[in-house]
Amino acid sequence: MNTIDHIRLSPAGDGLIILDQSRLPGKAEYLELTTLAEMTEAIQSLRVRGAPALGIFGGFGLYVLAMRTWDRDFYESISRDARVLANARPTAVNLSRGVNRVLAAGLEGPNPARSRESMLREARAILDEDIATCRAISEQGLTLLRDGQCVLTHCNAGPLATSKYGTAIGPLILGAERGMHLRAIADETRPLLQGARLTSYELCRAGVDVTLICDSMAAWAMAQGMVDICFVGCDRVARNGDTANKIGTSAVAILAKHYGIPFYVLGPTSTLDLSCPDGEHIPIELRDPEEIRSAWYREPMAPEGVRCWNPAFDVTPHDLITGIITERGIARPPFEKSLPAL
Ligand code: MRU
Repeated sequence: MNTIDHIRLSPAGDGLIILDQSRLPGKAEYLELTTLAEMTEAIQSLRVRGAPALGIFGGFGLYVLAMRTWDRDFYESISRDARVLANARPTAVNLSRGVNRVLAAGLEGPNPARSRESMLREARAILDEDIATCRAISEQGLTLLRDGQCVLTHCNAGPLATSKYGTAIGPLILGAERGMHLRAIADETRPLLQGARLTSYELCRAGVDVTLICDSMAAWAMAQGMVDICFVGCDRVARNGDTANKIGTSAVAILAKHYGIPFYVLGPTSTLDLSCPDGEHIPIELRDPEEIRSAWYREPMAPEGVRCWNPAFDVTPHDLITGIITERGIARPPFEKSLPAL
């Protein structure tokens, strides 16, 4: 069976094993998930995260639930589970796409046993496509980099957020494999520190020369001439090129424009949502204020009860984006034309 390490089926195929990303880099702990409640909890607590990884997880997750569903009301039951799983987080379009692809394969019938087989085939296809896609995006991104250059990235769009290589940091990992000397600056990415905990971990393991900074230091790094180009991932790209990604991404884009630094979004075409006209129509997840008030220290980080606003994503307006790098090529403005053409 074609598997990746951080999302895989249990040997009997009736459980989904994930590397719990919320414990990294301190602990590499694997969890086996078998119920809908465990799967939605894993998504919402960011034990599994990153747009393409959520699509892969959603597909295999629904298959595991189908394995554990009686034949009697099979089709009603997997449809109900799919609705809950697809809506566990709202912003990344890949989650609902992955779940709905596997559901559609199952609903073709003609009976539960055959449906389970088709669902597994479809879940594997999503994974295989993502491996090929990330590789192609990494190749495309690498064409923009020269030896010695420094890429600033925000949040985590690496192997843990996908299947292999990743999107935004894929070119850095591929470049390192080919003996290039590329450098990276990773924003720590408050409040959940995906940049500190995951991106710098992945880049160190891949042998990429990475420097971790606080989000508030990006402007100064650019002002010092330390950044040649910005590469970020995406959770949903609207038809006009407006792009939802981790909160703080739009700030990086504004800074890049100010300092004349190219700003690229990297993502699979499965993250394009051409039915969504612009960023105003992208649903933005709001998360628990405690992530800001108290998450990382033993002592509270703010006065108890202080009001906090915790949007998990923001939208980078299309006019701040130099290009959108996909597995099918690089879309450039005007995105209304170049994205549908891909
Ligand atoms: O809240 P997260 O950690 O799921 O947010 C992830 C991101 O914003 C990534 O940049 C995005 O999903 C692209 S992953 C290739």
